[in-house]
Formats: sequence, C-alpha cells, structure tokens
Amino acid sequence: MNEGKLVQLAGKHTQLLIKVGESAEIIHWGKRIDGESKSSGLSLERPVPYGRLDVDVPVSVHPELGRGSFGSPGLEGHRSGFDWAPVFVIEHIEQCDQSLSIICTDTLAGLRLTTELMIDDHDVLKVRHTLQNIKPENYQVNRLSSTLPLPPRVNELMTYSGRWVNEFQTQRQLLQHGGYQQENRRGRTSHEHYPALIAGSRHFDEMNGDVWGFHFAWSGNHRLRVDAKADGRRYFQAEVIYLPGEISLAQGESVTTPWLYASYSDAGLNGMSQQFHSHVRAEILPKEVKNKLRPVHLNTWEGIYFDHDPEYIMSMATQSAQMGVERFIIDDGWFRGRTGDKAGLGDWFLDPTKYPQGLEPIVQHVNGLGMEFGLWFEPEMINKNSDLYRNHPEWLLAVEGYEQPTGRNQYVIDLKNEDAFNYLFERLDYFLSTYNIAYIKWDMNREVVQPGHNGMASAYQQTLNYYRLVDQVRAKHPKVEIESCAAGGGRIDYEILKRTHRFWTSDNNDALERQAIQRGMSYFFPPEVMGSHIGASYCHSTRRRHTIQFRGLSALFGHMGIELDPVKEEVSEKQGFERYVTLHKALRPLLHNGTSWRISADDPAHQIQAVVAKDFSEAVVLVAQLSMPTHSLSGHLRVPGLDRQAQYRITLLDKPLNYEDIVNYQPPWTINGCELSGAWCEEVGLTMPILDPESAVLIHFQRIS
Ligand code: DGJ
Repeated sequence: MNEGKLVQLAGKHTQLLIKVGESAEIIHWGKRIDGESKSSGLSLERPVPYGRLDVDVPVSVHPELGRGSFGSPGLEGHRSGFDWAPVFVIEHIEQCDQSLSIICTDTLAGLRLTTELMIDDHDVLKVRHTLQNIKPENYQVNRLSSTLPLPPRVNELMTYSGRWVNEFQTQRQLLQHGGYQQENRRGRTSHEHYPALIAGSRHFDEMNGDVWGFHFAWSGNHRLRVDAKADGRRYFQAEVIYLPGEISLAQGESVTTPWLYASYSDAGLNGMSQQFHSHVRAEILPKEVKNKLRPVHLNTWEGIYFDHDPEYIMSMATQSAQMGVERFIIDDGWFRGRTGDKAGLGDWFLDPTKYPQGLEPIVQHVNGLGMEFGLWFEPEMINKNSDLYRNHPEWLLAVEGYEQPTGRNQYVIDLKNEDAFNYLFERLDYFLSTYNIAYIKWDMNREVVQPGHNGMASAYQQTLNYYRLVDQVRAKHPKVEIESCAAGGGRIDYEILKRTHRFWTSDNNDALERQAIQRGMSYFFPPEVMGSHIGASYCHSTRRRHTIQFRGLSALFGHMGIELDPVKEEVSEKQGFERYVTLHKALRPLLHNGTSWRISADDPAHQIQAVVAKDFSEAVVLVAQLSMPTHSLSGHLRVPGLDRQAQYRITLLDKPLNYEDIVNYQPPWTINGCELSGAWCEEVGLTMPILDPESAVLIHFQRIS
C-alpha cells in the first residue's frame, strides 16, 4: 500500500485531490470539500480482491501496461520493438496555485513524461501530456492519451452524432461494461464525431445530477473512450489518432497532446455549460471580440451562389444596409475560374471576367454604407482544374501512385510543403493587405483521405500546419476576424476557437432543424460564437417553409446574420428582417454576456432557452413550439436563474402574427403582462400559451424592484 502525498487543485466549486506516489492518481474530482480531513487519503484506499493481481493498481492520470493496468494505456509506442511497456516514476512535481506539473521518467525505456493539470475559477480543468525521447534511437509513438477518472456512480452518457446539415445531435446511453468509444478519422473535427461528451449520474438532466463534461480541443483525427471496468471503476480518455509512423521522436524531441478540457458540476447540464461558457469567454476567445458587439451579417452564399455580378452585389449591399446589416460578406465564387464547384480552388486571384473593375469599388461601396467587408476563402483546398494544380501537382496531400476519392470535386493541399504553405499565406496576406477586409470566412469542404507528405502519413502535421497558417495570418492581420467553417459545422472545437472568432454552425438554415443543432452546440459554446442566419422562407437544405417570425427568433440568440438575396425578397419579408435585426441589436449585449439556460419543458413539443443578465436585472426566454402540442394545454413555464427576491415585469416581446386567432383566448399575462417574483417564476411559473407547430414566442423579464 502506498500512502502517497495528497495534492489539491481547487476551482471555485470543484476540487481535485491527487495522490502522488510512484504515479499520480486523482482520488477525488468533484465538489469542493473545504477543511482538512486527517484520513481523506486513507478513506479511499481500495481492498484487493482474490482473482486479481496481488496489489492495488490505480487508474492513474497515465495508466501503464507495465504497472498492471488492464484498461487502455496512456502510451503505446516502441523503439524498433523495444521499450514498449514503460513504467514512469515521478521525479518531481511543481505546483503553482491552480496548476500542477508532474514530471516522470523511465530511464530504462529512455522516456520522460510531463503531465500538466490546471483548473480555473470557472471550474474548467485542462490536462495535457508531453512525451520526450531521451535515448539515442528514434521512439515511435502509436498512442498518447489523456485519462481522467470518473467515480463509480457515473452510469449514463450523453454523446454526439451528426452529419452535414445535421450537426450536434445528442443521444443518451447507459454506461455499461464495454463502455463507449468514438473514432474520428475524417481529418477535421468532423460533423460526425464532435470531440466531446458528457458522463453523469443516472438520469442527469438540465437542472439535476452530477455531470462531468469533456471536450478534446483538436481539429483533426481523434479517439474518445469511456470505459467501465470489471471492478466498477470508470475513466474517460481522449487522444489524437496518429496514423502509422506519424510520430517518430529523435533523441531530445517531444510530442505534446492537445488540451483536454473537462468540467464537473453538481447542478446538471446547465451548471456544466455555464462553466464552459464562462471559460470560453474569459480564456479561449481571442481578445478582439471580447468586448465588441457582434456585427449582424449578410452572407451572399444562398442568395447568389456562384453567380457574381459586381453591380448586383452592390445592390445587395445597399439593401442589406437598409435592413440594419453591419457586415457584408462575399462568399464562394469570386476568384479565377470559379464558375461552379468543380474548378478554381487554389487560384486565389480575383476573377477579372466577373470583376472587371476589381474588388475595390465593392469594398468602398460596402464601407460607404457603414458596413464592414468580409471575404470567403478555402485556403487548404485545390481543384485539379486550377492553374495551381497544373503548375504544382506535387502540392497535393496524397500518396503517390494512388488515386484518392475526391470530396466536392476537390483535393487537399499539403501544408507541410513549405512552398505551398508560403503561397497560401502570400495570397491571403495580399487580399488582407490590399483591401479593407475585416473578416474571413475560412472554409474546408472535404474530408481527408490518404493524407501523405513525401509518401508518409501527415494527418497530424496537416492539422498543426493549419493552425500555423491561421496563426501567421492573425499575427500579420490581428484585427481581421475569422469564421471557422467546414461545410457548416465540421470544424468546431476549442483549439480553433483560440484563433478564430465564430463558427458557421451548419449549412442548414431551416429554423426547426436549427433549434436542435444550436441546442446541441450550446452544451459547450456560448451563443455569440454560433453563426445563426435567417435564411429564405423556402429553406434550401430541407425544402421546408417557415414564417419570418420563426426564422427570426430561431436566429436571434446567436451571432446573427441573413443568408439570402435581399434584392429579390418581398417587402413584407424585408420588414421582417429589419424587425429581427433591430430586436437582436437591442438584446445582443444581454444575449452575448448573460448566463444561458436550457429550460426543461412540461411539454416535450417545446424547446425553451433563456439568457439571464449577470446582474439579474433582466432576462429573455424563447419558447419554440417544435411540433403539435402534446395536450390541449401546454403546462407551465418555469424560469430559473432570476433574483428570487426581486419582482419582475413580464411581457411578450414577440409572437406569431396569428397568435390570438388560433384559440378562444391566450393566457392573459401574455396580452397585458404581469409582475411576479423571481422565486415564483422559478418554482411556480406562468401558464404556457398555445402555439402552432414551428412557431415561437419571446418573453422579456425586467426587474422592477
Ligand atoms: C460550405 C459553407 O458551409 C457554405 O456556407 C458556403 O460557404 C459554401 N461552402 C461555399 O462553397
């Protein structure tokens, strides 16, 4: 039995107790327990049953095959077949307030491992490992993962699935023997396997239960695993999937894992999300957008696709400005040879046939209307039908001798090729230096197959070089904001958010589908980073139709925009855009700084979200009716998070046009308003109005005393 030394890392409400002996084991990660207990370490010592190893083997922060850990080890690698089962011994630890570094070595295997753990006042824990080869021959790393333990009472998971135009779908499952594993091999963060999941006590929900949320901050291939072992112990593990031969460390070289972010809350999913949201706002988002109002967008894609005519685009800009738009973005189709999605990628020169007068008159026109100007790029991609490919076929990220499948008719550029990298930087730099461009929509429209550099696997390096390219652009043009887009929401994660400012959440602008997509994303991201655009009434991705009211309210909470051709829209629609843009502008300081709540509904046909001001002075609640009301009456709306002692004036801010015609009469408070205490709103609530499917109401709470 090894008593070990107990080290504590504490957030505001959360605490980690780490037993540091030969290895380091987190023996408590949960609620903060203030006050010393003489026997806290001893109280969690485990018995050793028959039929197992004769010693207790901890699930350490770095489980080792060589110590008799039978779960998934933290490291798998070898040196030409040797040094494959290292056993690291802690040499020393360094603690500084809320962070801890554990340095250990295996001198026989010739490896040094540094584990970094840090927690902050938002109760978000960060973990990563660095492995260094300290012996002469190269060390091949197959896997290097970050492991965090989960207590035995964790027996339910919430995981993600998704696809193009259907991102962030959540599902619940029991955690049983065999556990859960997801592998993303698509070469970008992916629609299918967003790199996060939530584990918790049985039946955890929005308001109740112990939950542990995990987000692996990496924009490439990854594996997540939650294991339940025969002894009842559980752990979460995350790692980059290295392709064969990708990581070969010469003496002195090291590899560092991406950060794993994790957060515990005893207040259910809302508690966890609020911790992640405040961490994202304080620690992850680039500083340029921290105190800036997010400008309302008009993005040209669904309005004109590849059909670019400068005069027409300028008339779109004029109409946009009249509706209150603040940033006008020209999407795909502006560069040489880009007449459709089969040609042009890579040729980042303005198309002189489409833009004979150049881009400057348009930028000036947009700026003259008081709007910022933005431009679309897809830097990492190349069409074979492009001058770039004709001149540099060797710049493809590919394995020579094989013909890989295309995605959207395109291929990927090998960013490890310095000439290719420098070309892309020069092209981006040219446009950003020549024109007054405030914003780039940085797209990536295909998944990666056979990512080869000089014949060797290069998926990991490709992701690192993508970060390097964005970093280099940002270093030279620090004021330019960037949207991370990958065919909608295919590259949404915390690591890319450190260097970008918002995400294109989905190519699906259908308001009903957006309700589910945005809700799934809201578990880890605050609303202001979600690009949410009002699309045309006839939705391009689902062929469904929605009123401007439902579309406007569904886009209201995020980073709002409009995605259509304003010139062709009817007057009534334009008035609608203007109305919701105005409403959004009035509410955005609250929406983008307040505390978000997902509210449980009495009727499953409802989806309810709220944002409460940090000082509790006001709140807005959106009730969306997703399908037919389950019953003829829809129960009560209870709103958490208000000041329980204060009185609030409650009014309906927005409702469907036919609101009062669809019933004998609606709840009187929705017509004349009412005054209630915060405690009443939370515990008793208000009667829900009756709504038609695919419509919504917006409710305002104003503190009056
Ligand atoms: C995919 C993006 O998600 C769309 O918004 C649009 O920019 C197209 N690419 C352009 O090709």
